[in-house]
Amino acid sequence: MRLTLFATARDAADSLARHVVAFVREKPDLVLGLPTGRTPIRFYRELVRQARAGAVDLGRLVTFNLDEFLGVGPRHRGSYRFYMERHFFRQIGLPGDRANFLDGMASDPRGECERYERAIAAFGGIDIQILGIGGNGHIGFNEPGSWLEVRTHIVELRPETRRANALLFDGDPVRVPREALSMGVGTILGARRILMLATGKEKARAVAKMVRGPLTTDVPASLLQLHADVEVLLDAAAASRLDRA
Ligand code: GLP
Repeated sequence: MRLTLFATARDAADSLARHVVAFVREKPDLVLGLPTGRTPIRFYRELVRQARAGAVDLGRLVTFNLDEFLGVGPRHRGSYRFYMERHFFRQIGLPGDRANFLDGMASDPRGECERYERAIAAFGGIDIQILGIGGNGHIGFNEPGSWLEVRTHIVELRPETRRANALLFDGDPVRVPREALSMGVGTILGARRILMLATGKEKARAVAKMVRGPLTTDVPASLLQLHADVEVLLDAAAASRLDRA
């Protein structure tokens, strides 16, 4: 796991965007795994800016989002699909058939998870997976617990995660769905390269546990240590607990 430290969250996000621009220049039809949340907003903005400035053509990308709430449709303002359209896809005009999502309204959620795994495999797997981290150490929606599912699956969200996502649902954690669909840790580890963006002091504890180990399902992000090519881009606040015992 390589750590790169930046003075500010903005610097970290801009650097991540530069990484992705460089990768896309090398391979325009890159298969990119994408996160949502507050952290990557600046990253998407910078990527859009670079595309509009002509620095990179994002039109041939293939994307797979990490996760989605169960029971919300693409036009629901709380859905991750809505977030992605707003912050990225609508801005760059990516053809709809190149952006892949888990369908939160699927009548057969289990079948939907299997479909997603097949779709990722059909594109030859994910080249680069961008990740954020939850304050409790989750990645995607793989919540801490005594066990984890390997592949894309239905998850029950923890109260702290519902609280963290409340802003998407009029600030009311009760309105945040109790369940979601998420790539599994095995799906994530299947990506050829992983880049994580973690900023802010509320992530410092989870980042320290992820980096120091031990490997445990109680800190799903710690399992990223099993991957040979992970880079973590941090601001000073998120890195602030790394030097403590
Ligand atoms: C959500 C998402 C994760 C994301 C995490 C952190 O729960 N499912 O993929 O990494 O929140 O979000 P934020 O960047 O808002 O702290």
